[in-house]
Amino acid sequence: MSINNHNPLNAHFLTASPESRKSYDETIMAVAKMLTDNFAMTDQPYSGKTIPELKILLNDLWESNSTKQSLPELINEIGPKIVKHLINVNHPLCIAHLHCPPLISSIAAEIIISATNQSMDSWDQSGAATLIEQQMLDWLCQRYGFSKNADGIFTSGGTQSNFMGLLLARDYAAFHNYDWLISDHGLPSQANKFCILCSEDCHFSIHQSAHLLGFGKRAVFPIAANDRLSPMIVKKKFYELKNDGMIPIALVSTAGTTDTGSFAPIEELAVCSKELNLWFHVDAAFGGGVIFSDQHRNKLKGVEQADSISIDFHKLFYQSISCGVFLLKNKNYFDFIKLNVDYLNPESNEKYGISDLVGKSIQTTRRFDALKIYLALKAYGEEFFGILIDVTFELALTTASYIEKATDFELLITPVLNTVVFRYCPVPVPSGCHWENYYNKLNKHIRLALLQSGQAIIGCTKINGRVYLKLTLMNPLTRIDDIKKLFKMIRQEAKHINQRLINKEDRLLDN
Ligand SMILES: Cc1ncc(COP(=O)(O)O)c(C=O)c1O
Repeated sequence: MSINNHNPLNAHFLTASPESRKSYDETIMAVAKMLTDNFAMTDQPYSGKTIPELKILLNDLWESNSTKQSLPELINEIGPKIVKHLINVNHPLCIAHLHCPPLISSIAAEIIISATNQSMDSWDQSGAATLIEQQMLDWLCQRYGFSKNADGIFTSGGTQSNFMGLLLARDYAAFHNYDWLISDHGLPSQANKFCILCSEDCHFSIHQSAHLLGFGKRAVFPIAANDRLSPMIVKKKFYELKNDGMIPIALVSTAGTTDTGSFAPIEELAVCSKELNLWFHVDAAFGGGVIFSDQHRNKLKGVEQADSISIDFHKLFYQSISCGVFLLKNKNYFDFIKLNVDYLNPESNEKYGISDLVGKSIQTTRRFDALKIYLALKAYGEEFFGILIDVTFELALTTASYIEKATDFELLITPVLNTVVFRYCPVPVPSGCHWENYYNKLNKHIRLALLQSGQAIIGCTKINGRVYLKLTLMNPLTRIDDIKKLFKMIRQEAKHINQRLINKEDRLLDN
């Protein structure tokens, strides 16, 4: 062992020296205690501190003499001053977004990931980690029904995976139709006619990708609501666009839309895409997890026919951020983005059986997120994830039926996954208010008031011009009693807002 036990820097790095062990153990113990004391379970999902109050607190903290403190002391200090004012994803009423409480296995994996600091771009920076990532990718390809000719890569999440799907769709279209390699020659002259078909409620990263790929958002053609996408309307739009001189290159189907969790008929759309020579990308960032549920797996029927799939494990697979995967049916298409550079992944490495994953990624330095999937599957087994999905879906249905029975709430649709979209619409509306306008503003302000007080963090969205509240019931610890408590809070907040309106204390609800 060549560690110099007398090097004072040892205490700051993870080495085999006694100073390092002491410093590491004390620090990790301090972190564990601080997190259980300040984060594990708080009374509310947010402390309720206002932004100006927080700014003062954080400025004072930053300007205090903290560099003189030991690391465990500093960690103790940030517990009540920073960590207590984070959003508590473990709280049963933290239900705004597709933002999950991470499993303990994921927290453990994160410690290993950061301590070992592997970089997945090249074998010589990752060793066994490269093999574990490939093992997980091979398993996932098989789990989603792809053949041995498929492959994938871990990504930062759905946005990056969707971008990769559309990037490869673009490069494939140029190569297949015009024998043109975009990686060498840039965009072909026809690219300004390239366009993408998708649903009206697809994730905004589809538009963002179109922008980044040089098509502009105008090249995205939303056809219908996701659950109403059908081969017939896809074909109609396809031929209309062709007649207008456009060149449709891809169809995106969402397996679990962000707002309502709706699924498109994947199998039918896959067949139709093949017929029209469209790249078929399935954005299963949200709904990909249902593959583990016996009850809901059929929602993904046909996914194995997709050209590419996005799946997020930091959503319905309860992993800490980030943990996304991009799967590709024909692994040869990764060649569109592959580059070999002498310092990192020389071609000669392949001759020696060395695999550098950088050739499949749009990132260079990349985290060992695959370890989280590995540990989770080994620790809990696949069925466990199916149960978590079933439990949260059950709660969504119970919540929906509670809303339907209440006379002052309106449910938008029966939940398809675990999101519940609804609005509070009491009658009568205050005099002088247009009811539709009033409901829109009331719901917006209810959500804001709950967030600002920290009592509950719920979502808010707009569908067909109406403002709705949204509960994303991902947390398997949330129970119907928590939801009933939330509805009480909503009614209470609405009363306060109305009182302010009647007292003309603010112009909050003015038409
Ligand atoms: C359907 C869908 N696709 C893509 C994304 C983007 O995923 P990420 O936030 O992991 O980039 C989301 C995020 O909510 C989503 O709901």
